[in-house]
Amino acid sequence: MAGALKIGFSSYSAPDEGVLLVFAGPNLKFGPATQALLKPVADLVARAAAADRFKGKSGSSLDLVAPQGLKVARLIVVGVGADAEAKPDDKVKLGGSAFGRAPASAGEVTIVAEFPSGPLTPDQAADIALGAALRAYSFDRYKTKKKSDEDAPKQRRLTVCVDAPDKARKAFASREAIAEGVVMARDLVNEPANVLYPEEFARRATTLKKLGVEVEVLDKKALTRLKMNALLGVGQGSIRESRVVVMRWNGGKKGAKPLAFIGKGVCFDTGGISIKPAAGMEDMKGDMAGAACVVGLMHTLAARKAKVNAIGAIGLVENMPDGNAQRPGDIVTSMSGQTIEIINTDAEGRLVLADVLWYVGKTYKPEFMVDLATLTGAIIVSLGHEYAGLFSNDDKLAERLAEAGKLTGERVWRMPLGPEYDKQIDSKFADMKNTGGRMGGAITAAQFLQRFVDKIPWAHLDIAGTGMGSPQSDINKSWGSGFGVRLLDRLVADSYEK
Ligand code: BES
Ligand code: MN
Ligand code: ZN
Repeated sequence: MAGALKIGFSSYSAPDEGVLLVFAGPNLKFGPATQALLKPVADLVARAAAADRFKGKSGSSLDLVAPQGLKVARLIVVGVGADAEAKPDDKVKLGGSAFGRAPASAGEVTIVAEFPSGPLTPDQAADIALGAALRAYSFDRYKTKKKSDEDAPKQRRLTVCVDAPDKARKAFASREAIAEGVVMARDLVNEPANVLYPEEFARRATTLKKLGVEVEVLDKKALTRLKMNALLGVGQGSIRESRVVVMRWNGGKKGAKPLAFIGKGVCFDTGGISIKPAAGMEDMKGDMAGAACVVGLMHTLAARKAKVNAIGAIGLVENMPDGNAQRPGDIVTSMSGQTIEIINTDAEGRLVLADVLWYVGKTYKPEFMVDLATLTGAIIVSLGHEYAGLFSNDDKLAERLAEAGKLTGERVWRMPLGPEYDKQIDSKFADMKNTGGRMGGAITAAQFLQRFVDKIPWAHLDIAGTGMGSPQSDINKSWGSGFGVRLLDRLVADSYEK
């Protein structure tokens, strides 16, 4: 189940209802199977194309309502341009943009997965289906005034017509796991903070047990015993108790080092005593997008039975101002033993991650650690909403992440780290302070995190600009984007599964 869209594959055949989508190149060139399907309307399509000056350019389309000669309610010819061979994620995008051309009222949608140059491969057809599944997502749980059934069918169905439907169906299995993981992450990010507080977040992560994931929830008592005081300090102003959840997927060789994914899960970030301005503060319900991605990723890895050992660990807190809240000037002793002077209680994400990174590094000695966090506004100033910031102590890991970013379209841009930045986080009173001033704010935050990574290959992804409120795309119309699930799934699949 991927969202509200049911997906199937069939051989090339003319559907008798709904919307039919086909691909065309310049001069109204169709693939042979498409041409055969459109035979009864060849003349009509040619006349409509001429009337609409449709040239088959990529990004253009031709819309025919109730075409005489076909049973469908609508035929949409989607232009794919001349060069049909491009980046892999293009087929995912194409699936999203094509599916998006069908009106939301269409219950039955058929896409003929054939290019002017010939049939698409099973993998490409499955990519098209993935794109459609991602595009179909919308978060409407709290919309009580649903449109009439006619306007919005309860269950939408997509059929992808392809040369070898059995092979395409098989190829789609792993993509379906990806779509589910992305949907899970998006749901978590979109959910409001009165519903999704640390305990409830932990409960939702616990549902991964049904896929064979081991899930361990550390409550306040356990965290106190572990001396995670940096994390606990952030949550101490909230009536909602903090949690850390550790998810373990053992799909690899017994005893093989696990890959570790760590997420910032600030269920709501008011800033604490260093309170944020009111305007836009509602967006801080999404300050757990890193943790959401980790849960979505663990779902995907388990659902597609990835041949790898993986750990997902998330630090869940709520950052509130309160009589019991942490103050600027407070000094906390992190689990690592290093002391931190709190300068600004709004720089809370790094405090949460400091303890979780340390805990995971020491407990599991992983092959690598990748953390994801909506960590700084500064990364949005640097990179906007197009790229996530990538910081790493390991060139190989950084390269692999950049490559996975290119392949999935979830792009990352490497930023510097270095001892030159350390002086900005030196403290008068403690081992370090939790803010480094305005200059290079995303870098000093990463430099802070690095102090809690003991020689393990590590990468930090600052997803403040990409995890939520990023520009909508062909495959995402949702505020919470689910950024990182596809990126990290690809990293795992391409470099760590044998
Ligand atoms: N959660 C915010 C960062 C953020 C800002 C995420 C906008 C998404 C959109 C983080 O906890 C924060 O408040 N960072 C401060 C750090 C500063 C006090 C050093 C920031 O970026 O202003
Ligand atoms: Mn903050
Ligand atoms: Zn935050």
